[in-house]
Amino acid sequence: MAKYRIAWLPGDGIGKDVLDAAKIVLAKIGLDAEYLPGDIGWEFWCTEGDPLPKRTIQLMKDTDCAMFGAITSKPSTIANSELIPELQNKGYVYRSPIVRIRQKFDLYICKRPCRAYPGNPLNYKEGIDIVVFRENTEGLYAGVEFFPIPDEMFNIKGMEKVPKDAAISLKVNTPKGCARIIKTAFEFARANNRKKVTCVHKANVVRATDGLFLKKFNEIAKDYPEIEPDNANVDSLCQWLLKRPFNYDVLVAPNLYGDIISDLCAQMVGGLGFGASANIGDDYALFEPTHGSAPKYAGQYKVNPIATIIASRMMLEYLGEVDAARSLEKAVEEVIKEGRVRTYDMGGNATTLEMAQAIADKIS
Ligand code: IPM
Ligand code: MG
Repeated sequence: MAKYRIAWLPGDGIGKDVLDAAKIVLAKIGLDAEYLPGDIGWEFWCTEGDPLPKRTIQLMKDTDCAMFGAITSKPSTIANSELIPELQNKGYVYRSPIVRIRQKFDLYICKRPCRAYPGNPLNYKEGIDIVVFRENTEGLYAGVEFFPIPDEMFNIKGMEKVPKDAAISLKVNTPKGCARIIKTAFEFARANNRKKVTCVHKANVVRATDGLFLKKFNEIAKDYPEIEPDNANVDSLCQWLLKRPFNYDVLVAPNLYGDIISDLCAQMVGGLGFGASANIGDDYALFEPTHGSAPKYAGQYKVNPIATIIASRMMLEYLGEVDAARSLEKAVEEVIKEGRVRTYDMGGNATTLEMAQAIADKIS
């Protein structure tokens, strides 16, 4: 029996292209793993009314972790019209499977490394090396939303300000939820000799929830005297990240700010082809490129597999295969630096699989 069981979830569009690329490097590394394919994506929404069928959740429960490709999401009006006729008007509601997985498996850490690989022609500036820790289960993603607002909610003090026809999305931050992601960011900083952790917030306006996040940050920072604690309003941080990217090291943010900031950081180190996520909880983890499903490129093996390969590297780290992770990172570095094999986004004409093969060839 293989040492690891990995749920293999290509999903939609280019999801299969990039996971095929990941297989090439994992095979070269010789990871002793069994890859178990699972159904997820738009096709299963249309035919079953659920893009994340129960059998897939069960499959994940029976594995050590998952590799995920990409998913197509559409607004609910369109989603409903694409259901097969038998399922229409039966009350099916489309919810993003990736957000559901994060919540269902309590994958509260979203780690997004943003490193400018030397020689990457897409770098905004050489030398950027930021790691974003995004809270991944609560905040504005809690899914507590009202439209229309039930009458009884208007009995709550403060609600008199809210028009009857408004829509409400609750931002839910818990002390436990804030504390565990902030601790994770500091622990990472400590273990990796990082100098500074910046808390991302808007506590001057969003007083209750962001106030709690910042309060927890200030408390926890005291346990890490060797690391400089820093905090910034999310809006001004966007300006400063572009102006002085080298002032930032580790960022920790509530869910939505982390979502936004991590796209900005990814763009500074090469864009969509370089943004990878590790979604990690206490019992399970899922690794994915951060990009979408790019349906127009599906099956063309054109897109950059590096994000997915970085995700695979984080999976190796999670599994404790640290030497393998290190040699994979080195191989990625070398291929980028040499610049001989590049996908179209980097100005070359290599295919997804050729790029993966070039990286695999560097692994000894
Ligand atoms: C991400 C994505 C997801 C998110 C979408 C696809 C639901 O943007 O992983 O950053 O908002 O978290
Ligand atoms: Mg995002």
